[in-house]
Amino acid sequence: MSGDNRIWIFDTTLRDGEQALRASLSQKEKIQLAQAIARLNVDVMEVGFPVSSPGDFDSVQRIAREVKGPIICGLARAVAADIEACGEALKAAERRRIHTFIATSPLHLQYKLRKTLAQATEQAVAAIKLASRYTDDIEFSCEDAGRTPIDDLCWIVERAIAAGATTINIPDTVGYTIPNEFAAIITALRLKVPNIDKARLSVHCHNDLGLAVANSISAIQAGARQVECTVNGIGERAGNCSLEEVAMIINTRKDVMAPLFTDIKTSEIYRSSHLVSQICNMPIQPNKAIVGENAFAHSSGIHQDGMLKAQNTYEIMSPEQVGIRQSELNLTSRSGRHVIQHRLAELGYSQHDYDLEAVYKSFVALADEKGRVFDYDLEALVFFQNLKEAD
Ligand code: KIV
Ligand code: ZN
Repeated sequence: MSGDNRIWIFDTTLRDGEQALRASLSQKEKIQLAQAIARLNVDVMEVGFPVSSPGDFDSVQRIAREVKGPIICGLARAVAADIEACGEALKAAERRRIHTFIATSPLHLQYKLRKTLAQATEQAVAAIKLASRYTDDIEFSCEDAGRTPIDDLCWIVERAIAAGATTINIPDTVGYTIPNEFAAIITALRLKVPNIDKARLSVHCHNDLGLAVANSISAIQAGARQVECTVNGIGERAGNCSLEEVAMIINTRKDVMAPLFTDIKTSEIYRSSHLVSQICNMPIQPNKAIVGENAFAHSSGIHQDGMLKAQNTYEIMSPEQVGIRQSELNLTSRSGRHVIQHRLAELGYSQHDYDLEAVYKSFVALADEKGRVFDYDLEALVFFQNLKEAD
């Protein structure tokens, strides 16, 4: 199954993202976010952990009933009560997935679960078999796979697929691996697990070393066909892989990523990103790739001049592709005459309405003093210069 070229986008904003918020979301807010994520046209959306609380159960149930389009997924530990709650909560969904997991790294097995790998595997197999009573779409995750010896990982994955798992997810739970290492895990699984092609291979990367996106991209280049991610990369600790970054890397770098593609409607990215930021009360850093306030803003005079000549001199994608109306040229002391003239023309001034040299001189003085010069400042400069000349 890893041979096809569509990269499935599995959004977990409402599960791994939501669990890391300071304040939990109301059901109404979750529905609003779920609708926005569905508009992005993700393939799967994980919307909660039903056994964790009655509130979570209810919101998973309501999303399953009301949100159409993507496969709706719920999380369950590899224990019967979790699987049953998940199966019940998802009943009304047009298409549903149960995502069950167990830890596989020696560290987690010894200290957290106090189990051997064989015992954990037995538990996972039983959970997968129980989940198959509710759906034939079952995802199994090896928690802390990034720190699990490859032979152990292959061993449990082979048995999970034999038990009925249709997606095998490899989480780098603590964001520990680096891209070539993580890609090597995917390559080894594809080589060593005999039944691997019966399942879709997925990756779920955390961002503790700032490598969640890079690791996910390396993994799909090595054969993974589902990426788990969140809008704005929100999630535990340093967060999860960012949906908008993965989608735009695949979209922008077709020269190296083709024939791989996603079905994400990229023009919905900005809108959903801002909704997530507002509802989750998580400001977006200004220099955040794709959706930050400065992602399509240019301050250097040299860059601004280049942009006015050809947009792709300093932009590798257009703002319209991600749903932003237009690029911004910030007026600062580094801006040149060309951009001042251009901005005044946009504001309705012809070259005969002002003396460019005089306006530019007062513009530079003002910019040195206050940093950024806004349109109303510029108009005031033109007004006062004309007043002076009329005296
Ligand atoms: O990070 C992780 O390991 C998880 C699993 C539950 C998939 O979120
Ligand atoms: Zn996670």
